Amino acid sequence: MNEGKKFLDSLMNSVKMVGVGAKDVCDKHNQDCSWLLDPLARWSEKAYGEDIFLATAKGYAEYSINVSRAQAIYEKNGRYMPELLDTIKATVYDDEKYMVPYMWAAILIYAFWPSMVSHIPFFRDEFLNNVAENGKVLELACGHGVLGLLAADYRKDIHVDGLDISAPAINIANKLLDASGMQDRVSFQVKDALDLSKASEGGSYKGIIAAMLAEHLENPKILFKILKHHLAEDGIIYFSTALESFQKDHVYEFNNESEPILMAEEAGLRVEKLISCSSKTNTKPTRFNPRAMAMILRHK
Ligand SMILES: C[S@@+](CC[C@H](N)C(=O)[O-])C[C@H]1O[C@@H](n2cnc3c(N)ncnc32)[C@H](O)[C@@H]1O
Repeated sequence: MNEGKKFLDSLMNSVKMVGVGAKDVCDKHNQDCSWLLDPLARWSEKAYGEDIFLATAKGYAEYSINVSRAQAIYEKNGRYMPELLDTIKATVYDDEKYMVPYMWAAILIYAFWPSMVSHIPFFRDEFLNNVAENGKVLELACGHGVLGLLAADYRKDIHVDGLDISAPAINIANKLLDASGMQDRVSFQVKDALDLSKASEGGSYKGIIAAMLAEHLENPKILFKILKHHLAEDGIIYFSTALESFQKDHVYEFNNESEPILMAEEAGLRVEKLISCSSKTNTKPTRFNPRAMAMILRHK
């Protein structure tokens, strides 16, 4: 790992307790973590200066503590107890103070969490390698924008349209986009992904990314209908979601891998490949086992 090591070094120097697990994941998956963290470090430092590494370490540590607390409450209550979507929008998505550190954590978990790290090669090898040449790619709930930027960096022939409901997140995505120099092929805008259900023109995207969005919705079935509508005949979808993992803005509780699979199939899509990984690092019995799954979907 080259520049990407700065994220890890900052974490180890400032919040070592949280950094040890992250370092372990990066050591075991060095090449995949470098694929994500090296360009991210270059874009972040160019956009925000070298202080960004300490800021992201703090954001990641704060997020990790919040996740552990929320999971303990979930374990005790036996079900997700989400707030109303309007409240989540006001206190999470529209709140810059909450959203900015959250977005840095949201991308770092791909390299730092055992449940997320396999999503990196899955995204690159099974999705990006199979998007049609010169294809248009839609990214729903792009947040920080990093998956879309990595996609365009890896596949110099594609165009990416990213959207997210959160203005503070799109602000980060646009800063990283400017630093990446890929403004001619990538754009990010503030938009509700569910509004796309009203768009009449369909079938134009050769690739669609919907990463870690479904669990934030009241009814993810609508999302699968939108994915189906916008996918080109020979298009491919990268979908991922969290299961049995409660967080402040997780609304829909998936307990079984079969649930999103069935929703995709009901919408007329077929699962081509699938991975699901646990984030549990000890063997202590728990009622719930937080996992993250990712699927490659195509038209049936
Ligand atoms: C956990 S983050 C995922 C970000 C990124 N896709 C990733 O995989 O790291 C969830 C994102 O969903 C966005 N989001 C939630 N509901 C949305 C909606 N209805 N339309 C668009 N974005 C939404 C949030 O603003 C947030 O950026």
